[in-house]
Amino acid sequence: MVDVFPKYYQRMFEMISGLYLKYQLRTVLELGCDVGHFVGFLREQGFLAEGIDGKLDTYRDDLRNFLHQGPITDIRKVFGDRQFDLIVGQGVVCFGSQFDYSYGKRSNLGYLVLLSVTDSQVKKQLEGNVKEKIEFILKSSFNQLTPGGLFVACENIAITDRIGFTQETAKKLGYEILVYGKQEAILQKPK
Ligand SMILES: C[S@@+](CC[C@H](N)C(=O)[O-])C[C@H]1O[C@@H](n2cnc3c(N)ncnc32)[C@H](O)[C@@H]1O
Repeated sequence: MVDVFPKYYQRMFEMISGLYLKYQLRTVLELGCDVGHFVGFLREQGFLAEGIDGKLDTYRDDLRNFLHQGPITDIRKVFGDRQFDLIVGQGVVCFGSQFDYSYGKRSNLGYLVLLSVTDSQVKKQLEGNVKEKIEFILKSSFNQLTPGGLFVACENIAITDRIGFTQETAKKLGYEILVYGKQEAILQKPK
């Protein structure tokens, strides 16, 4: 595997390779694609891959037609009714990632994090918002999947990262659970 993107993507690629043998996977959307190296790699492997990220400050110029700026909590805003066989997210449905995206240093809401250290109500509010965001990501992805399509999440950037949704939440949104572990999940939209 090429090493232009971080090593932790290896696991995501292994998961996709395993699924490719069993399911018809052609169109792929990567949530939180960042500069787009993994999208580029998947395209080299023959997938019709595209990516979406809220903060595409820098991106691979050769992929400009396949990388889109927008909210992964509301993918429809960018893709309308388009559906994908596979939606993948590396480092996006864990608590830390959504917390950082919403309240980190590139957000103007960072003062709330400081406030949450001393104010338990604010802390509770922020945690609730992050949980809701993760649910929006799952819900939005469900709508953009073809029937039988797969949602694959891998949360292994740090050893302490965890999948940030419960099996109950995924089921409530209509998914079937194929795999659910501490750092990885595979969900399917029923046919
Ligand atoms: C932790 S980084 C992971 C980047 C890349 N997938 C990787 O693993 O190296 C999370 C990425 O998802 C994007 N992201 C996170 N939450 C988002 C949201 N709610 N809407 C749009 N983009 C989001 C961030 O801008 C960032 O590029």
